[in-house]
Amino acid sequence: MKQVNNEKSILEIKNLNKQIGGQTIINNINFSIQKGDIYGFLGPNGAGKTTTLRMITRLIFPNSGDIFINGHSIQTDSILALSEVGSIIENPTFYLHLSARQNLILSAKLAANKVTNARINEVLSIVDLKDVKDKKVKTFSLGMKQRLGIANALLCSPSLIILDEPTNGVDPLGLREMKTLIKHLAKKENITFLISSHMLREMQDLCDKAAFIQDGKIVEKGDVSTLLETYQVTNLEDLFFACIKERMTE
Ligand SMILES: Nc1ncnc2c1ncn2[C@@H]1O[C@H](COP(=O)(O)OP(=O)(O)OP(=O)(O)O)[C@@H](O)[C@H]1O
Ligand SMILES: [Mg+2]
Repeated sequence: MKQVNNEKSILEIKNLNKQIGGQTIINNINFSIQKGDIYGFLGPNGAGKTTTLRMITRLIFPNSGDIFINGHSIQTDSILALSEVGSIIENPTFYLHLSARQNLILSAKLAANKVTNARINEVLSIVDLKDVKDKKVKTFSLGMKQRLGIANALLCSPSLIILDEPTNGVDPLGLREMKTLIKHLAKKENITFLISSHMLREMQDLCDKAAFIQDGKIVEKGDVSTLLETYQVTNLEDLFFACIKERMTE
């Protein structure tokens, strides 16, 4: 059943907590993402980004709190909630001895919704892998593998795509291609993005909104340009440290 919810919120995280082995990993976090956002989930190594993204995609379960996607709780309504979500959590894994197209055909077979051959060709074309679709994935660069990961996430025509550190290890050219692709998908295909990264500066020209996480807590969140102005800094790295400093003096 559809919950009462801010109409435009595509993702809403409410009072989320996660303990592992008696240790609090995620400490009562809240944030929401509106349709059309490219939302950065930013913080240093070990802050709790992947743990949160794994809870959103139901790979692990929270101890308390809830997550709503398009108004559906992932606890009580998980099939509907996740029906419009594509994700790459940790590295995308593909069969290296198979071609890009063969990998997507396998994924399509496992998908909850029917994926046509036409859609497979379409997503290969969107991520600019059409010309190499029959080449084995083992011949692909990391950037190409990341784009194939995005093609895979696109198969079921999601409205929300969740990417965990999509730029990890990608060279500057691959990084630029990845950002261009994400911006294109947000604008032309109406896809909302939640993107985690510890590379704060790299995310500056990509994310329009962001939440900063450290030690399992959200230290600041909001519109990136408004935050930069408020804290009187010029980049996301300085913004993060300014937020931390302010919290320490609170
Ligand atoms: N299964 C687990 N068992 C024990 N500790 C865990 C487990 N999963 C995560 N942690 C701990 O929780 C904290 C947050 O980890 P998480 O992987 O979510 O961080 P992250 O922000 O994604 O970091 P990175 O930038 O390195 O990917 C870390 O201290 C990690 O060691
Ligand atoms: Mg991580």
